[in-house]
Amino acid sequence: MSSIENNAVPVITIDGPGGAGKGTITQLLAKRLGWHLLDSGALYRLTALCAQNNDVLTSDEDQLKKLARHLDVRFVPGNTGEPTLVQLDGVDVSDAIRTEACGERASQVAVLTGVREALLQRQWDFRQAPGLVADGRDMGTVVFPDAPLKIFLTASAEERAERRYRQLKEKGEDVNILALLKEIKIRDERDMNRSAAPLKPAVDAVTIDTSGLSVNEVMARVHELVEDRIEFL
Ligand code: DC
Repeated sequence: MSSIENNAVPVITIDGPGGAGKGTITQLLAKRLGWHLLDSGALYRLTALCAQNNDVLTSDEDQLKKLARHLDVRFVPGNTGEPTLVQLDGVDVSDAIRTEACGERASQVAVLTGVREALLQRQWDFRQAPGLVADGRDMGTVVFPDAPLKIFLTASAEERAERRYRQLKEKGEDVNILALLKEIKIRDERDMNRSAAPLKPAVDAVTIDTSGLSVNEVMARVHELVEDRIEFL
């Protein structure tokens, strides 16, 4: 189904740099509204992982485009309180796509126009009634430009590095916060300066700086916007 056929279904887009809290807010909001969820970053991470599994270089646009178009992916919703499982070729890759190394490769394949185009239809397919909350970098600017509510979540690079540091520590990973900060800055730079769908707020997006805010405080602000903009709620 193209975006034209199902564009009566409302979409809330949540864009912003990595570590700004998009994933958490998207999940909470989708759950509260009973809407579908699109984690578009996972599609770029899956393309990067699939490339690695098939010895395809992150610069080989033709091959990557084909891989992206034919990705055999399933998102299997978890039981209450459990995360969604992500399967690639029938194998659970939920953890494998979340590593720093996979995020770095995802950022490299995401600069390629051919890859971005190959993933468009897959993203539009998530637009199903009663609504969709879509998390990414270009949800409001490119993929769902007609969304009635566009949110741009941001936070300082230092705060994002600290959050990531805590997450990785909790998982038992040995990480260096300065190295994380450096990686975050490099990735921001690449995501913001690529020519294809660069990371930037849509002109009609509402920006929320989550630095120093708790998840509950961000959710309260998001909820105000939803009540204000989404007519039938
Ligand atoms: O949100 P994330 O960290 O899972 O995203 C991984 C990479 O994918 C990120 O560096 C940029 C890219 N990405 C993108 O270019 N467009 C999107 N809509 C989502 C992610």
